[in-house]
Amino acid sequence: MPAVLVAGGTGALGGAVVSALSRAGWTVTVVDRADALSPEGVHSVRADLLDTEAARAAVDGVRDLGAVVNLVGGFSMGGKVEGVELADFEAMLRLNLVPAFNLARAAMPRLAAGEGGAFVCVSARAAIEPFPGATGYITAKAGVLALVRALDAEYRDAGVRCNAVLPSVIDTPANRESMPDADRSKWVPSEQIARVIRFLCSEDSAPTSGAAVPVYGRA
Ligand SMILES: NC(=O)c1ccc[n+]([C@@H]2O[C@H](COP(=O)([O-])OP(=O)(O)OC[C@H]3O[C@@H](n4cnc5c(N)ncnc54)[C@H](OP(=O)(O)O)[C@@H]3O)[C@@H](O)[C@H]2O)c1
Repeated sequence: MPAVLVAGGTGALGGAVVSALSRAGWTVTVVDRADALSPEGVHSVRADLLDTEAARAAVDGVRDLGAVVNLVGGFSMGGKVEGVELADFEAMLRLNLVPAFNLARAAMPRLAAGEGGAFVCVSARAAIEPFPGATGYITAKAGVLALVRALDAEYRDAGVRCNAVLPSVIDTPANRESMPDADRSKWVPSEQIARVIRFLCSEDSAPTSGAAVPVYGRA
């Protein structure tokens, strides 16, 4: 089984993704900024993925690279666009898009040079079904989708599958804390999304590239 690089692998969704891929036999390397403890058998690399060279070093450090999963991203909510500061808008674009770009730039030639592989990103349902008050986040996640489709156009013929999953609300500790009164029955467990990501990394998804895969659960 080849190796997979999981960026943001210590985050809320990250733990479930790392565990699903490890259990399926992948050799997993987690990239994060913090010096977090990784589960046994999982390699860990520290890199700020906003930095192009750090992202390249992280990718280059993985032997037999077969897949890259980028989970790095974030959410911020405010009012309508008229009250949004440019700095906050730009921060959303940067956090959600630059790591994906830096990872793709370093990894796509490696994946294409081998027997093909997979590049999986996390967009959001809001990218195609926007709601008010999150201009930066929604624009950024739509950008993630566009990036994935652009990569698909460039690398599909080399056998590299590029796909995005679109979560609505994931059942994470941060969401439980920020929305204590919400109806959690509509939230999606991170383990379920992790299994979809595992599928998109695997050869079972061989004919699927350029897809925006809904992972909405019952919502
Ligand atoms: N949670 C939801 O309901 C939801 C809904 C739709 C989409 N999503 C998307 O799903 C993905 C995962 O969400 P999550 O809730 O698991 O997020 P999370 O818990 O905040 O995890 C984000 C991860 O990214 C890492 N990271 C952030 N900036 C980085 C950088 N510059 N370089 C390297 N690593 C960096 C963080 O590491 P550090 O600890 O070092 O900061 C953390 O491991 C995100 O893209 C998010 O936008 C989430």
